[in-house]
Amino acid sequence: MVRKSLVAGNWKMNGTRQSSAELVSLIREAAPFRCDTVVFPPAIYIEHVSGLLNSTSVLIGAQNVNSNDHGAHTGEISPTMIKELGCSYCLVGHSERRMVYGESSKNIAAKFGALITHQITPILCIGETIEQRKAGQTEQVVEDQLSAILEAFVPGDLSLAVIAYEPIWAIGTGETASPSVAGEVHGFIREMIRERDYDLAEGMRILYGGSVNPDNAAALMAETDIDGALVGGASLKASDFIEICNVTGRN
Ligand code: PGA
Repeated sequence: MVRKSLVAGNWKMNGTRQSSAELVSLIREAAPFRCDTVVFPPAIYIEHVSGLLNSTSVLIGAQNVNSNDHGAHTGEISPTMIKELGCSYCLVGHSERRMVYGESSKNIAAKFGALITHQITPILCIGETIEQRKAGQTEQVVEDQLSAILEAFVPGDLSLAVIAYEPIWAIGTGETASPSVAGEVHGFIREMIRERDYDLAEGMRILYGGSVNPDNAAALMAETDIDGALVGGASLKASDFIEICNVTGRN
């Protein structure tokens, strides 16, 4: 099965209304790409950016969501709200949410389920710390994070999702996992999914994230089990993001 590659740009908590518009207008001019493309602006700019991307092939996503539809959740944003603004993707389980904001596997599974209910594609982020890697625990960590989701949902629901393997030691550090190191973990992840369901594993897009830039993207994307990239820092610079999209294309 040929999996269409995907490049996702996670802007995190960066930019202004003005800089977001400038960034997206350059991406818009360069689109369409051979890969699917989605940008994740800060929530407050989603509506603005979504308007600017109207009728282009570039999709929009949210960086976070609450698992409830509405109610007394001060400061939170619901799946219905992001859907109304045009989001078709949402990140879940990013290491910054797990580690800095204390999100548990239970929170993450609840968010994942809410997104599936609303037909918004969850990009489930998983990955190990440097200490865990040095201690030889990479596979165990990835297995624990992934099985919390694989065991909680049926293959029909899981088929909407995308996985992003993001070794924490490579996020924002300029240090990237080599294509073979990343490829090995991606292979392990696909095998885990295959044990759950063969077709699910063949169709599942598994992205690599962690200091992806125009210099390392092509080599990473050449790995059989790497189906695209989740890009942080380099997604804030239009020329870098566009170049990453240009070298990521498997139709
Ligand atoms: P980075 O971030 O590309 O800046 O390492 C990736 C991410 O956090 O998704």
